[in-house]
Amino acid sequence: MEVASLEVRCVQKRYRGGVEALSGVDLRVETGAVVCLAGPNGAGKTTLLRICATQLLPTSGDVCLFGVDAVRHPDKVRDRIAVVPQEARPDPDRSAWHHLYQYGRARGLGRAEANTRSEGALKILDLWERKDVITRDLSGGLRQRVLIGMAMVTEAPLLFLDEPTTGLDPVARREMWQVLTRLRQQSTVILTTHYMEEAEVLAHRVVILDEGRIVADDSPRKLVATLPYRSKILLDDSLDEQSLAALSTHGRLEELAGRPVIYVREEDAMTGLVEALTARNHSFSVSPLTLEDYYINALRGGK
Ligand SMILES: Nc1ncnc2c1ncn2[C@@H]1O[C@H](COP(=O)(O)OP(=O)(O)O)[C@@H](O)[C@H]1O
Ligand SMILES: [Mg+2]
Repeated sequence: MEVASLEVRCVQKRYRGGVEALSGVDLRVETGAVVCLAGPNGAGKTTLLRICATQLLPTSGDVCLFGVDAVRHPDKVRDRIAVVPQEARPDPDRSAWHHLYQYGRARGLGRAEANTRSEGALKILDLWERKDVITRDLSGGLRQRVLIGMAMVTEAPLLFLDEPTTGLDPVARREMWQVLTRLRQQSTVILTTHYMEEAEVLAHRVVILDEGRIVADDSPRKLVATLPYRSKILLDDSLDEQSLAALSTHGRLEELAGRPVIYVREEDAMTGLVEALTARNHSFSVSPLTLEDYYINALRGGK
């Protein structure tokens, strides 16, 4: 069997103070994969990512990077990984160029190599024209790209990105997806995200953590296929409790982005629901199931 880029076995993490952030996690990531770690706040995503990236020690368990025991020998693997931490922000008084070049130098590149790689990364990131602008004067999306650029100059075969798109507006987020799609051509990427549509677009595989355990691990398509529902009907958010209660007899009532939705299992239930809605003159729309539906159902125990 080929050596995995990352192999995590029985990893447990208990922080001082007693919080058990991870309770026995197993994860194997093949070279070339893009894995999205998802899950609610506090699920343990950052803890797992930092342990895999040799920034934090597990309380117990093994982490191997490229077949090397990364708990015992972190120095043997650090030059093959790059990390963009969740809370990272570029220095507001320095330029994009400065960040990439200096980081390249700090990671051991010679001047010429640091120059070439910084230029290459800034061009891919569409930052070349603005390479000398201090990051204070860049938009949030561009600032985030500066951090990705720092990871890019390392040309590390394994990248860890903790919520690279959180806080970005929808356009900047989509632009970031293009950048991330580029990255996956050269590296194995493990990223955390709250956005299921992002995981659906980017990831070969989605790993959902909840309370320190992996509760789902598969391709987006296969996860969606395990749902016991055929489709969902989005309802009008002006519906009162009583109407919702009556409609919920046709399927499973949930809330999605502030709107009530009903997941229906069978064709008959669907027909019944559509008839009931039409008879009452309620507006609605029928949608295919997405990874977000899987996520909501998995975490609310509705499977
Ligand atoms: N340095 C720390 N000390 C104590 N508890 C921590 C620390 N960092 C995280 N935690 C706790 O561990 C759990 C998992 O946190 P985290 O890994 O940051 O989750 P996520 O990234 O999924 O939001 C949470 O309950 C959090 O409060
Ligand atoms: Mg986190």
